[in-house]
Amino acid sequence: MRPLLGLLALLFVAPIACIEPLIKADTDSLKTYSEPFRPQFHFSPKAHWMNDPNGLVFQGGRYHLFYQYYPDSTVWGPMHWGHATSKDLLYWTHQPIALYPDSLGYIFSGSAVMDYQNTSGFGTEEHPAMVAVYTYHNMEGERSGRNDYQTQGIAYSVDQGQTWEKYIGNPVIDNPGIKDFRDPKVFWHESSQSWILVLVAGDHARFYRSDNLIDWTFLSSFGQDFGAHGGVWECPDLYPLSTDQGEQKWVLSVSINPGGPNGGSATQYFVGDFDGTQFTSDQKDIKWLDYGRDNYAGVTYNDAPDDQRILLGWMSNWDYAQVTPTMPWRSAMTLAKRLDMKVENSDYYIVQHPVWDSTLIKHSSTLNIAEVNDGLILPVSKSHIEFEVDLGANTTLELFNSNERFIFSIDADNAQMIIDRRGSGAVDFSEQFSPGIQVKNYTPEQRMTKVEVFSDASSIEIFVDSGRHVFTNQVFPTQPYTHLKITTEGLISDKIIFSELKSIWNEQ
Ligand code: FRU
Repeated sequence: MRPLLGLLALLFVAPIACIEPLIKADTDSLKTYSEPFRPQFHFSPKAHWMNDPNGLVFQGGRYHLFYQYYPDSTVWGPMHWGHATSKDLLYWTHQPIALYPDSLGYIFSGSAVMDYQNTSGFGTEEHPAMVAVYTYHNMEGERSGRNDYQTQGIAYSVDQGQTWEKYIGNPVIDNPGIKDFRDPKVFWHESSQSWILVLVAGDHARFYRSDNLIDWTFLSSFGQDFGAHGGVWECPDLYPLSTDQGEQKWVLSVSINPGGPNGGSATQYFVGDFDGTQFTSDQKDIKWLDYGRDNYAGVTYNDAPDDQRILLGWMSNWDYAQVTPTMPWRSAMTLAKRLDMKVENSDYYIVQHPVWDSTLIKHSSTLNIAEVNDGLILPVSKSHIEFEVDLGANTTLELFNSNERFIFSIDADNAQMIIDRRGSGAVDFSEQFSPGIQVKNYTPEQRMTKVEVFSDASSIEIFVDSGRHVFTNQVFPTQPYTHLKITTEGLISDKIIFSELKSIWNEQ
């Protein structure tokens, strides 16, 4: 199984890269989040292993982030739900671990809802319960060769997620004999006045309904003959999005590992309709949320203000997640993104807007192309860069230090957008980290379009055409990148806005 392979890889492939920073990590750096590669404006746990975001729910002015967490190691192990909260999805406060493994199994991925009408009876209408719905992964069951070792359980909290009670009648959904049967996403479905749950079962998604979050009825399934099937389906989500013409569509998103467009883990989505019982779609092509390699298991918030649809992903890839050269923590979340739906030539697609604001800016300056043509010295390792460029011309953006370089290019001649992180810094901790360039096909057209780049100590997120094309990647430069270079054969806006960003941990 993957985690065991990862542990072996850690022991035999990357001992030097991983152990050396551990020795250096003293308690002061833990307080200040200042270790090498430590993300400065992305969420990462203080220490130890993290993977998928779980239980994303907005309540009482706070965004809750629960996450797959193993508090005893920097590689995957018996899963808990870690917990953090934020008022703005930028600055995070760590909270105590929410859910611990129990006799039914490890606590795998899932979701959380606020039960405002007290349908479950776990709270009251005055003090509604937060209810978590998750997968139990039973190790004894797996070891004994059975295939029914994943079931769904629930837990509730009547103190805003601080302390939790597991439901005494767990599991609430038994395993029907399907090996991979997990990652329930629950939401309140207004038009059928019921709770809807979507989970994945190997190569398809299954839908259930409930009046009380406890008793679930199977409704339908989707996916065996649809979309990408290069790996197992994981972490589904189902939500409505309105187009700019006001038409409502439903999105079913499914993470898949392996089988992503540039290798390993990635998230595909289907645009269609959901009538309270069945999801249908006549989509022919495969749509991916992100063409970088490090945005996985992303799901959206329940109850976000103003009906916004906000996505958060795990900024890693199972191809190498367990051997990245960070200590004493491993992995970060992506920036949160607000989602929109657009229609072009009768085709629907998701557009992603990074959630951030000027509170994160330390210092901004306006540059022009002549200044960055040959490479300009700037603190690019903690920055936001924004400019407009012609989508029909060749353009290259480079972030680099004296001998390491990350390159993004819009190759209009070949109708491709390309990421090259082969020389971006430490890459040899895994042969799978950077075997080649990453490619996304696109349609070149003479049109000025916005490009936004968020560069942190160990990641670069790029949003092209106002979030139509998104590339999320980890990078591990052994020295921070110090230079920005942009070249283009087309038009570029007079102003390239460069902002040095703050650390969410050290600079409020
Ligand atoms: C996705 C995943 C989920 C599972 C969890 C276990 O990354 O494999 O399917 O619930 O991680 O940690």
